[in-house]
Amino acid sequence: MVSGFRDSPVTTASVCGFCGSRRYPPSAATFYNEPMSRLHHIADMEKRFLLPTYNRYPVAFERGKGVFLYDFEGKKYLDFVAGLGVNALGHAHPRIVKTIREQAARVIHLSNLYYNEYQGQLAERLCQLSGFDRVFFSNSGTEAMEGAIKLARLAGHKAGGAAKSQLVALEGSYHGRTFGSLSLTGQDKYRKGFEPLLENVTFVAQNNVEALHAAVNANTCAIVLEPIFGEGGILECSEDFLRACRTLADQHHAALIFDEIQCGLGRTGHYFAFQTFDVVPDIVAIAKPIAAGVPLGAFLSKEHFASAISPGQHGTTFGGGPLACRVGLEYLAIVEEERLLENVAKVGGYLHQQLQGLVDKYAATREVRGRGFIQGLVLDIPARPLVEQGLAEGVLFNVTQDTVLRFLPPFLLEEKHVDKGIRVLKKLLGKKRKKARSALSEVATAS
Ligand SMILES: Cc1ncc(COP(=O)(O)O)c(C=O)c1O
Repeated sequence: MVSGFRDSPVTTASVCGFCGSRRYPPSAATFYNEPMSRLHHIADMEKRFLLPTYNRYPVAFERGKGVFLYDFEGKKYLDFVAGLGVNALGHAHPRIVKTIREQAARVIHLSNLYYNEYQGQLAERLCQLSGFDRVFFSNSGTEAMEGAIKLARLAGHKAGGAAKSQLVALEGSYHGRTFGSLSLTGQDKYRKGFEPLLENVTFVAQNNVEALHAAVNANTCAIVLEPIFGEGGILECSEDFLRACRTLADQHHAALIFDEIQCGLGRTGHYFAFQTFDVVPDIVAIAKPIAAGVPLGAFLSKEHFASAISPGQHGTTFGGGPLACRVGLEYLAIVEEERLLENVAKVGGYLHQQLQGLVDKYAATREVRGRGFIQGLVLDIPARPLVEQGLAEGVLFNVTQDTVLRFLPPFLLEEKHVDKGIRVLKKLLGKKRKKARSALSEVATAS
């Protein structure tokens, strides 16, 4: 058994005796006597050198195929998380692998100083699918939101001077970690410690039409919302509320901005979530699955807002590069040719039904929320232990808002995969119910 790499020289680059990787400087493993697993090597390295921002689960993946991931011991996991909604085509989709290989051999990055073959093509395809007019490409979701806010501010200033800069956002929302997006995020846990944030943001409760009316006025430049809250716990905006947002935005010449970074690009069974709700915004932000895991985000705008911006007022180094945009085109082609939206609607309906079956039967469950491949099973107990037990069972679940098991599976998911996930959940929830019951009976006996 190889024990860490304690025999390696400690002064210069050392080679891990276990995994063969080069390390600068040697990790804590050097000083341990016990053998370390590959996972422990990786975790140990991160613990020493990364900013401590993540609370990771105790698993490291080596590769994936379709709806499955494999850890370094070769254990297989069914993936209901899909990289938090990014891997809509699952892992190692052969067409995506081929496209990346081909494009990487030609050109990966050029800079927005020059034209590339694919940025305009991808923008055209997104406009065709959405009915929007213009696109700006970013690297991530939060940057897509930053651009969207900047565009709304510019249009506001043009229409009503500097006073027309107020933003209306929703309590419980999530829009990203950069300062603009964070300022619109209606959850203290993300904001706390980073103040002061953007001024002039008013928060209203989701689906509270009265509060919305009170918040929107002539100085509002944008109403910003996720049609389905993702991080907020899979909560849908009602159509009445969305319609009221549309009416008020029109009335006050404000931009209605939808953040579809989590719920868009197919997850509801439509290319855009607004097509599900039949209320059309002025600006829509997208990201996650668009380039199948290659970082890319975008916001799309109707012409009357897009015309507020001129060259030099916004830009990015990486956004819209030829590799990412070519993969984006391939992503949309695969979704269409493999009829994946139909699969999302069909298997999503089945998932909903099966989750509802759990709610009917298991005491620890409360309700099912969402649709398609963006759903949440609300529990009466903390969900993280279930996620950890799911790992042992070879299934990846995700938790948001502490008690909501969130399902963002790849669009390739089939009913048989849902059945496997439900079987595991029954086992885990069954245990929980027994526990809850015995805890209750202990209380009853004690009193
Ligand atoms: C609705 C929503 N908006 C914005 C973001 C931020 O995207 P990113 O993490 O790519 O910056 C996310 C990420 O989860 C999201 O779900």
